Amino acid sequence: MKLKGRGSVILFPLPFQGHINPMLQLANILHERGFSISILHTRFNSPNPLNYPLFRFYPIPDGLSENHVISSDPNRIVAFVKFLNSNCQTPFRVCLAKLISTSLEDEDPTACLVTDALWYSTQAVADDLKLPRIVLRTSNVSSFIVLSSMSLLFEKGYLPLQDSVVEMEVPELPQFRFKDIAMLEASDRESFLQFIEILVQETKASSGIILNSCEDLEQEFLSKLSLLFPIPVFLIGPFHKYFPASSSSLLPQDRTCISWLDKQQPNSVIYVSFGSVAAIEEADFLEVAWGLANSMQPFLWVVRPGLVQGSEWLEILPSGYLEMVGERTHIVKWAPQQEVLAHPSTGAFWTHCGWNSTLESLCEGVPMICQPSFGDQKTDSRFVSHVWRVGVHLEFKIERGEIERAIRRLMVEPEGQEMRERIKLIKDKIIFV
Ligand code: UDX
Repeated sequence: MKLKGRGSVILFPLPFQGHINPMLQLANILHERGFSISILHTRFNSPNPLNYPLFRFYPIPDGLSENHVISSDPNRIVAFVKFLNSNCQTPFRVCLAKLISTSLEDEDPTACLVTDALWYSTQAVADDLKLPRIVLRTSNVSSFIVLSSMSLLFEKGYLPLQDSVVEMEVPELPQFRFKDIAMLEASDRESFLQFIEILVQETKASSGIILNSCEDLEQEFLSKLSLLFPIPVFLIGPFHKYFPASSSSLLPQDRTCISWLDKQQPNSVIYVSFGSVAAIEEADFLEVAWGLANSMQPFLWVVRPGLVQGSEWLEILPSGYLEMVGERTHIVKWAPQQEVLAHPSTGAFWTHCGWNSTLESLCEGVPMICQPSFGDQKTDSRFVSHVWRVGVHLEFKIERGEIERAIRRLMVEPEGQEMRERIKLIKDKIIFV
């Protein structure tokens, strides 16, 4: 058989924005290296094929309604991922088998499968079809190690967490305090542990792990990762820096924020976004609004529909608020985040510390205010504020005075300037273009 190129790679993203973005960025990287690309995906939260004319897209049924809403409750997220794994395994198998045989007929044989680590049910299918499966873990190395150590921490009897230990370091995971390990809070412990176990086991059974991180950022964790996962590990991030911003956004990005940023002073704007899943209470939303208003700094605020449960969009802001802040703010439903962070007017990022957002901010040298909500966000926040020391940590209990103080520390006080200098050094280390 004559080979057309290097063969084809089939990629299977998990249908969350924070997982689709790195998977499609990885697809771009592999395509540039000469592989043809097929994206197998759920119908729910389907990426837009029109934005990737060089890739082939294959939807599979997932049993979800079109208007399914992803909950921000960690227990419900775990239940949702389990549901996807059991519901999609058969359609995935059928589609994959068909793709493998078509690719042989096309003289473009399938080199491997790349799936999100959370698609653990795909390992059995890949084994049956004799196709190597590589896992993409969309978090960083340290939080993957924390997640993989959960069973051990449960066995050590650290639960239920006592108030007296929350500020103490976890002996098995120096650098993290008990309170940084959000996963310990899962209420349905049995179900959660079973989920982690299968995720770890099916990752170990794979042919390798790719992470959107790099050695310069997480050197001290690499040997531990190799011990836990004795398979090839590839740290080839930051993915998004290989190419100009590509569009795997599920929501339309409002570009008016770029022209608004053009009118602001260098380093003056606080960009505020809590990612695609985190939700906050109405009372907290109002504290955010007042904290930003009282800071007297210009701010670009992403208020995603669904950020405050039960509200449409901005109708819960107090009357007169928007007139009072006037030109000092620009509020959008969704932003072209990578461009916003790269804009010279952006001086700080108030973020929930999802790994994509954290990495995008590091890559642009923008210091952070960290407000983690769940999962890996707490470990990312710990790294930003205490290890790399390029941000200020805020508890998820939101209070306007605290917000004002955090903004002042970053935007006005010498401490903020020091963080800016430190993050520039990190940026120079991790950017390779
Ligand atoms: C989720 C989890 O919350 C996160 O902890 C995990 O690491 C990945 O999955 P999400 O909450 O959406 O992701 O956060 P994040 O990882 O930061 O990803 C958000 C992505 O959406 C980023 O790539 C960001 O650039 C993009 N985004 C965000 C936009 O394009 N526009 C916006 O207005 C906000």
